[in-house]
Amino acid sequence: MVFSLFSGRYFPDPGKPLMNVSGIWASVSIVMVLMLTPLTKLKPLRFISRYRRFVGLTACLYAFLHLFIYLVLFAGLSWSWISSDLVEKPYIYAGVLALLILLVLAVTSTKKMMKRLGRNWKPVHRFVYFAALAVIAHLWWQVKSDITIAMWFSVFLVPLLVLRLDQFSFLKKPSFKSKKSLR
Ligand code: HEM
Repeated sequence: MVFSLFSGRYFPDPGKPLMNVSGIWASVSIVMVLMLTPLTKLKPLRFISRYRRFVGLTACLYAFLHLFIYLVLFAGLSWSWISSDLVEKPYIYAGVLALLILLVLAVTSTKKMMKRLGRNWKPVHRFVYFAALAVIAHLWWQVKSDITIAMWFSVFLVPLLVLRLDQFSFLKKPSFKSKKSLR
């Protein structure tokens, strides 16, 4: 992105292509992070679980770059411009939600935070699925005529989300033990 910018490839209007590329890389990283869990279930691929944090942080980094480009190149750091843009483009709220979730996950991804959160760490990190849903909303909401990007990311993200539905305890069927205790 930096090379393309300085080689003049994106001129005269670098904002739009840079927004596009940063957003696409952030979304690709989310797809990759969601893919890692099912892949690590395969014995020969177990080792890739060590890259989960790296890929998650990459998603967060690109999402922040996307925000930075929006604030500087799109909005020119004008808060009045941003507030009128927020009225025009409500899909930005879905993007902000995804970004905030990614930020919380990045901050709580250290070993120290893992220890501090204990049993709560996993439920907190399941919020990555809500981030993926927010990204899908962000992409479809902004579609005008070209559905290519929204469609391709949905093709990857939706099956990965469906595959992990069992991770949400409120969707889980009561286990044998809990059925017994209900009686
Ligand atoms: C503060 C958070 C965010 C803001 C303000 C924001 C804003 C925007 C805006 C204004 C566009 C349209 C750009 C244009 O007109 O060409 C856009 C596109 C895009 N955003 Fe975001 N976004 C945010 C978060 C995210 C996140 C977290 C992701 C993915 C993980 C993402 C992925 C994308 C993608 C892939 C596009 C291109 C869509 C297309 O061209 O069809 N955005 N975003």
